[in-house]
Amino acid sequence: MDTFVIQGGQRLQGKTRINGSKNAALPLTAAALLTDGPVTLRDVPDLADLKNMYRLLAELGCMRLTEPPAAEKGVLKLHTQNTTNSHARYEIVKTMRASICTLGPLVAKRGYAKVSMPGGCAIGDRPVDLHLRGLAALGAEITLTAGDITAKSPKGGLRGATIFLGGAFGSTVLGTANVMSAATLAKGVTIIESAACEPEIVDLANMLNAMGAKIKGQGSPRLIIEGVKELSGIDHTVIPDRIEAGTFLLAAAITNGDIVIDNCPMDGLLAVVDKLAAMGIHIQPVSSAPGIPPAVDPMRASVRVTCDRTIRPVEVTTQPHPGFPTDIQAQLMAVLTLADGNSVVTERIFPDRFMHVAELSRMGAKLYRQGATVIVSGVKKLIGAPVMASDLRASACLVLAGLAAEGTTHVHRVYHLDRGYEKMEDRLNALGAKIERVDDKDLPGSAQGGEG
Ligand code: EPU
Repeated sequence: MDTFVIQGGQRLQGKTRINGSKNAALPLTAAALLTDGPVTLRDVPDLADLKNMYRLLAELGCMRLTEPPAAEKGVLKLHTQNTTNSHARYEIVKTMRASICTLGPLVAKRGYAKVSMPGGCAIGDRPVDLHLRGLAALGAEITLTAGDITAKSPKGGLRGATIFLGGAFGSTVLGTANVMSAATLAKGVTIIESAACEPEIVDLANMLNAMGAKIKGQGSPRLIIEGVKELSGIDHTVIPDRIEAGTFLLAAAITNGDIVIDNCPMDGLLAVVDKLAAMGIHIQPVSSAPGIPPAVDPMRASVRVTCDRTIRPVEVTTQPHPGFPTDIQAQLMAVLTLADGNSVVTERIFPDRFMHVAELSRMGAKLYRQGATVIVSGVKKLIGAPVMASDLRASACLVLAGLAAEGTTHVHRVYHLDRGYEKMEDRLNALGAKIERVDDKDLPGSAQGGEG
C-alpha cells in the first residue's frame, strides 16, 4: 500500500486545471447501458472507481472500445455488444458502491437486472431503499435473495409514475440517477418529487436528453420525464469536478497560497464560495491566458484564490445541493483547525462522516465531537504525524493538513485518495508542495497496522 510523505509548510503557487467529475462520470458511464449506440465521454478522469466501473460494464456486455494507451487522454468510448449477462456481482460491487447505478438502466433497457446489494462504508450505512422504492413505483418487481437485488420489469415494460424520492436525510443523488435513467424508457410520464438537484444529476439529464430522452426540471427538486421508445448514442463532455475544485481552493487557503484554477465549476460551488469568503479566502475570476477575457461559462471558469493571513472561524452545515456539500466537509475542517477561534461543523447527510477527526487530533488539532457536530477550536499550528486515511474525502483532508503542518506527515492508505483524485501528489507538487509517494514497505521502521 502507498503512503504520502508530506513535508509541510510550502506555500502553493501557480496554476492547475480541474478534471472531469468522478461523480458525474460514474452514472454517465452506466447510462451507456440504456442505448444500443456508441457512447463517447470526454474529460473522464483516470481513477480507480472508473476503472472498476469499466470492468463491471464489460461483464455486462458494454465494452470499452479503445483502451489506454491507444485511447486519447480523457476520452472513453463505450458500446453495448452483448446483453446476455445482467448480473453486477458482489466481487465488483464491493469495490465500488456506485455500481448501483447500473440497476435502473439495466431494468429499463433489458427488463431484468441483478445487482449485488452494496454494503455500508466508512462514511455510514448508505441504504438503497429509495432507489428500490422509485424503481418499484415504475412497476419493477424487486426481490432480494442471497445479497443480490433483482429487478424485473412487468410485461410491456416500466410505466411512468409519480414518485416521492425524499428520505430522512433529504434527496438521494444516485437514487435520482437510477430512477430518472429508468424513467426515460418507461411508458408515459414520470414525475420525481424531491429529486436531487446536484450538478451531476443535471449533467446526466442533459446527456440523456441529447440521446433523445425528454427530461424537464433538472437542477430543481421536480423532474418530469416523458418516456421514449429508445435512446441513441452520444458524444458528451463530463462537467468539471466541483469537489476536486473545492479541495484545491482549500489547499490554497491552508498554505496561504496564491493559485489560479482553470476549468473551475463556480456555478456548482456557490455555497462553498460563500463560506470561504466568510473565512477570508478570496476567489476572483481571471482570464485563462493573457488577452482572453474571463470565461463566461460559470461551470468552466478560471479563478485566482488568495487568502487573508488570518482564517476566520465559521459555522457550516452540510446539506443536499445547493447547500454546502458533505464531500467538502472534511477538507474544510482541515482548514478550520487553523482558524482564529471556534468553528462549528454539522454533518446532515452522513452523520458519522467524521473518521478524519481522530486523525486531525493526532496532528494537534482541537476537535470536540457531539453526535453529528464537531466544534473546531482553532490552533496556531498543526504538527506532522503519521495518520491513516479511512475514506476518499478524509484522505484529502489529511493531505491538506499535512501541507500546512510543521514537519513531516505520513498519510497511510492513499489508495482511498486515488479513488477520487487523479495524480494528486503530482498536481500539488507542480504548485510547490513536497509530497512523495512511497510504498509502505520502503518506509523506515514501518509496521503495518490492523483495522482492529
Ligand atoms: N439514503 C437513504 N436511502 C437511499 C439512498 C440514500 O436513506 O436509498 C440516504 C443516505 O444514507 C444519505 C443521504 O440519503 O444519508 C444521501 O445519500 P445519497 O444517496 O445522495 O448518496 P449517494 O448517491 O450514494 C453520492 C456521491 C457521494 C456523496 C453523496 C451525497 C457518487 C458516486 N457518490 O452518493 O460521494 O457524498 O452523493 O452528496 O456520486 C464521494 O465522492 O466522496 C462521495 C461519497
